[in-house]
Amino acid sequence: CGIVGYIGDGNASEIIIDGLKKLEYRGYDSSGIAIFNKGKLEVRKYKGRIANLEAAIAGEHFESKIGIGHTRWATHGAPSDVNAHPHSNMDQSIAIVHNGIIENYVELKEWLIKEHQVAFNSETDTEVIAHLISVFYEGDLVDAVYKAVEKMRGAYGIGVICSKEPDKMVAVRKDSPLVVGLGEGCNFIASDIPALLKHVRKIYLIENNETVVLTENNVKIYNADRKEVKREVFNVTWDADAAEKEGYDHFMLKEIHEQPKGIYETLNRRLDDNGMIKLDGISLTKEELDRFNKVYIVACGTAYHAGLVGKFVIEKLAKIPVEIDVASEFRYRDPFVDDKTLFIAISQSGETLDTLAALREAKNKGARILSIVNVVGSSVARESDDVFYTWAGPEIAVASTKAYTTQLVCLYLIALYMGYTKGVVEDATYHKYIEELKAVPDKLREVLAQEEQIRNIAKELYKREQVFFIGRGLDSGVSYEGSLKLKEISYINSFAIAAGELKHGTIALIEQDTLVIALATQDRLFEKMLSNIQEVKARGAYVIGLAKENNREIEKQSNRVIYIPECMDEITPLLSVVPLQILAYDIAKLRGCDIDKPKNLAKSVTVE
Ligand code: G6P
Repeated sequence: CGIVGYIGDGNASEIIIDGLKKLEYRGYDSSGIAIFNKGKLEVRKYKGRIANLEAAIAGEHFESKIGIGHTRWATHGAPSDVNAHPHSNMDQSIAIVHNGIIENYVELKEWLIKEHQVAFNSETDTEVIAHLISVFYEGDLVDAVYKAVEKMRGAYGIGVICSKEPDKMVAVRKDSPLVVGLGEGCNFIASDIPALLKHVRKIYLIENNETVVLTENNVKIYNADRKEVKREVFNVTWDADAAEKEGYDHFMLKEIHEQPKGIYETLNRRLDDNGMIKLDGISLTKEELDRFNKVYIVACGTAYHAGLVGKFVIEKLAKIPVEIDVASEFRYRDPFVDDKTLFIAISQSGETLDTLAALREAKNKGARILSIVNVVGSSVARESDDVFYTWAGPEIAVASTKAYTTQLVCLYLIALYMGYTKGVVEDATYHKYIEELKAVPDKLREVLAQEEQIRNIAKELYKREQVFFIGRGLDSGVSYEGSLKLKEISYINSFAIAAGELKHGTIALIEQDTLVIALATQDRLFEKMLSNIQEVKARGAYVIGLAKENNREIEKQSNRVIYIPECMDEITPLLSVVPLQILAYDIAKLRGCDIDKPKNLAKSVTVE
């Protein structure tokens, strides 16, 4: 989500909408503003892109000197007009925008209903904040915000305005970004710098647990003890375009780097303090699980590749056969699906027509539909019985990266949950997996730190026109994804194949200097993989090996090696895919390709 607030002598609604447009990359399922028009608080909010909001208020000619706005990426509650921000209290005197999540909102909501007879309008966690501030309000907005924040757990960047104190805006931050823009006769708040760069270059970076009070000519920052704190002015030197990408050259690279965070969020939002998986409303009881005799995973593109890993782990942990298919094939093969089938659809966008059509087909045949989706409220999400959301945040680059790794996390959690609930995974195994998964974000940071080394490999390779990816077991699934990444953004003809299958035909294509990227991360299959590498080496191949850092043996067989940190074999895909993403990115960049928008492709394909 993105937030923008303005106070000054300009036209608040125009300035805010303009700022929100710069934040659409943060989320775009709904947007809204709150302003004071002739002393009255006016809130306008609509589902859909910011253009909808702009068109809807075009005729209203608001004249306001203060206001707050929001562009939303739904978390709690589907995208809709009601669930869009800003949210207000019951007498419409206070309006707030919020970026983040209030973890104890259910508890707070119950308390507000019981003790203060509050009537709620939306399904969001955010609305709780507006009512909390309202019940604590006794003529001093800052005091009310402090009291509300004391009750809240979670992450938040919040902007608040109140019609009883119309010349003031209050903002507060914990674990969600918040900056203040310092203008001439005007001041701003925003979740992200790009929203402000048209107007200001002088910024205060707000720290955790700080509260900011803004007027037209003044900004004061206070700490959690209500003591004023001084802040150095931060001068922004980069341009707006670079700022949206947070300094990265492309969204794809930014999203590659967001993976530790995405994995952390996807994992931790589903785990309680004891490491037990929380389903939060998803119904998968032991009786239901025992009734299923088959799982069907269906998806397209990168999501399908996540499914390949899903098949492996669900079979291994939940001891149930898993069929997997690309969505465009599934429908036309008259698949064996009935009311004993658990059908898992995987889709970043939740709008891929092939996946949606397959889901409907499975539903007609009586299957239970569980989907893994990134976009809350999307078609796949709405038509499923249950949704297991990824917490990747908006993915802008067409080539999917963080959606894939967060989909993997969901699949691990589903597999573990199924196995543990059915009683086929023991306590120790369960906790071993959880510990290993929890360690992934840090290990991934180690992989990302090798960027320079991977870039050097890319410099050697970028002129090649043909690449083979090989691997065994889980590595073969990751090979498909590595190969897809490379071909979709660099237009190199790349091909992935299970390493053991190579000798049955494809090896005919290997000749002097043919590039082979060999994934050898599975301890169990390491020696077998070394033999496969030798097979291609003997035919003259130039080999880039990918292995765990203790398996140095691979250096003898390969021209270059990329290492990932030690971890259990079953979770290597979360780590091994990342060097392949970076390699594809660097190669495409050296070839001068349009990385974020490759030719002939679309982020979400809504045709069959
Ligand atoms: C398109 C995209 C791919 C994506 C696939 C599935 O083809 O270019 O990157 O993997 O659709 O998309 P979904 O949104 O269903 O995950």
